[in-house]
Amino acid sequence: MSFLELNQVSKSYGSTEVLSNINLRISEGEFVAIVGYSGAGKTTLMSLFAGLIQPDTGTVTLAGQRMAGPGPDRGLVFQNYSLLPWLTVFENVKLAVDQVFPGKTEMERIKHTEKFVAMVNLRSAREKLPSELSGGMRQRVSVARTLAMNPKVLLLDEPLSALDALTRSTLRDEIARIWQESRMTVVLVTNDPDEAILLADRVIPLTRGPSATLVSGIDIHLPRPRDRRFLNENAEFKMCRNQVVTSLLAAGAKPKTTITRDLVLPDIQPEDISTPRLSSNRRGPTRARERRREEVEIIP
Ligand SMILES: Nc1ncnc2c1ncn2[C@@H]1O[C@H](COP(=O)(O)OP(=O)(O)OP(=O)(O)O)[C@@H](O)[C@H]1O
Ligand SMILES: [Mg+2]
Repeated sequence: MSFLELNQVSKSYGSTEVLSNINLRISEGEFVAIVGYSGAGKTTLMSLFAGLIQPDTGTVTLAGQRMAGPGPDRGLVFQNYSLLPWLTVFENVKLAVDQVFPGKTEMERIKHTEKFVAMVNLRSAREKLPSELSGGMRQRVSVARTLAMNPKVLLLDEPLSALDALTRSTLRDEIARIWQESRMTVVLVTNDPDEAILLADRVIPLTRGPSATLVSGIDIHLPRPRDRRFLNENAEFKMCRNQVVTSLLAAGAKPKTTITRDLVLPDIQPEDISTPRLSSNRRGPTRARERRREEVEIIP
């Protein structure tokens, strides 16, 4: 039985249908990546998973239960690190831990927070404020804060998109390592096919919007851990990338409508501006059909 499931889900904003007839079944412990164009509706899809918005039609279920609203069983990491600026790294993570585990003692909550700060390699920055951190470090705090809530499903909405290439690949490796250790169910949204293939068990393209929908997923059987440096030369990786990119291009192509019509040129002959304006020889604008034939003598 699938763990997280979307059945015939669609969502509109005003008169625009953003997502149309989305069907998806995710198994427990699976890492699924959804790859889509910018503005296609990826965040809308994540918000549906998180229960932040409700579908207009269809259902979203987690472990057989219909989702009625947001809950700590689904941890969402946003595109832009959303930290509280007046709290330190440690305090940002602890705040979430305090909310989710009110039954634990203060000592247990501190220990739990420390474990997750260490997991994302931020122990040395634990007393720093978000303004004193780099983008990559801030995104790590977001990941630590979400993981510390022990969600059943981790929802990653382009968590690496705001980072430079090097930081991006470091944090990507960290996400892969953490997933291998925890084996929680992960849904990652990205616009980078390589990133999706490097991380996921299954990559699913989202067509271009409006009325975006998911097309057939591509299973990724590459052994883990996956090292980008070696994968670039790996035939299976290249084949997966080819499949994902081809599928995305096909999914993005809009059906073209062609019409044929006669092109009617304007019935006008422009004014002759090569002759001075006040000259009596200057020809004004004329209608093409009024042009008279004239005979010109050619002197050899
Ligand atoms: N709350 C809202 N009200 C009205 N329209 C919205 C709302 N949220 C999203 N949209 C529209 O829905 C479409 C999809 O938005 P969404 O943020 O889901 O796309 P996305 O794929 O996450 O984009 P990006 O790649 O920029 O993150 C866009 O056209 C957007 O303008
Ligand atoms: Mg988005």
